[in-house]
Amino acid sequence: MEKIAFFDAKPYDKEWFDKINKDYEIRYFEGRLRPESAGLAEGCRAVCAFVNDVINAKTIDRLSELGVEVILMRCAGYNNIALNAAKGRLKILRVPAYSPYAVAEHAMGMILALNRKIPRAYIRTRDFNFSLVGLTGFDLHGKTAGIIGTGKIGRVFIDICKGFGMEVIAYDPHPAENAGIEYVNKDELFKRSDIISLHCPLTHDTRYIIDESAIALMKKSVLIVNTSRGQLIDSEALLSALNEKRIGGAALDVYEEESGLFFEDNSDKIVTDEIISLLVSRPNVIITSHQAFLTEEALRGIAEVTLQNFDDFLQGKPLANEVKPKE
Ligand code: NAI
Repeated sequence: MEKIAFFDAKPYDKEWFDKINKDYEIRYFEGRLRPESAGLAEGCRAVCAFVNDVINAKTIDRLSELGVEVILMRCAGYNNIALNAAKGRLKILRVPAYSPYAVAEHAMGMILALNRKIPRAYIRTRDFNFSLVGLTGFDLHGKTAGIIGTGKIGRVFIDICKGFGMEVIAYDPHPAENAGIEYVNKDELFKRSDIISLHCPLTHDTRYIIDESAIALMKKSVLIVNTSRGQLIDSEALLSALNEKRIGGAALDVYEEESGLFFEDNSDKIVTDEIISLLVSRPNVIITSHQAFLTEEALRGIAEVTLQNFDDFLQGKPLANEVKPKE
């Protein structure tokens, strides 16, 4: 039976992979994949990894020495892989789409929670504090949503916004054809939007797409939601803007320094990351721990496609979900 070394395994991963898997021995490891832990993959033909595993050139060298042939990413993003180092040595397969609804619905959930101050209200009422002071939000109906990236998730999010009666504008260097979307340039999107939602991948071009200069163009009341990748936002610039009341608030499911913090219980530790400590303390910031994907449908889809990718690899079939470095 072929073996898969499964890194950064969480109970919800194990539940769904064990339900779907019939053909492989999966060795689950709680720790992340990194150069120091790659040796655990000895005897396995595949490793299965996630968004915060460290798949740099050293990790790839080590896996390759051990005879690992394929990295099965159980996610869509692959910005944490040194693709050039893997070229010609290890195949990289991913799950390009599982549930765009999971992420888009979470993005809207965060906007509603932030705008209508639902977490604050919940905490108050649990203490029998039924005051409404400080809980005023605004109607989404009639407001403008600016969407950056109109791929699978962005398009679902657009439909949700339209369902709320919002005007939608979007920026994407590869506009969707005949989708009835009003595309504008980035600056116009920053200027006109009441909420801004990021749905583009992290690339050289999109790193810090929300920076000081972008924020300078925005409305003072704007709500920014990021369910894509942390490095799309310059967190220091975001914090300054929050401190100086230059934006209305932020809802973050991802954070640029999330690796080592997110997905783990750090409640009994001293968190020394000053930026996230300050962001967490702001009343107009909501943070979730990269959980936008976390629905039953998405977990099932991730397990099915990841194992199908390995089937296809072993059977020498065309690899529709292969990730290759740009030529
Ligand atoms: P997709 O590939 O369907 O769409 C991405 C869109 O971004 C494309 O239309 C592309 O043209 C556009 N894009 C590329 N460069 C851009 C740029 N410079 N500026 C603006 N747009 C640009 O991807 P999908 O499935 O919609 O996912 C989007 C992102 O969501 C992923 O890259 C990933 O980072 C994130 N994600 C987050 C999850 C979470 O749990 N928080 C789960 C799944 C995905």
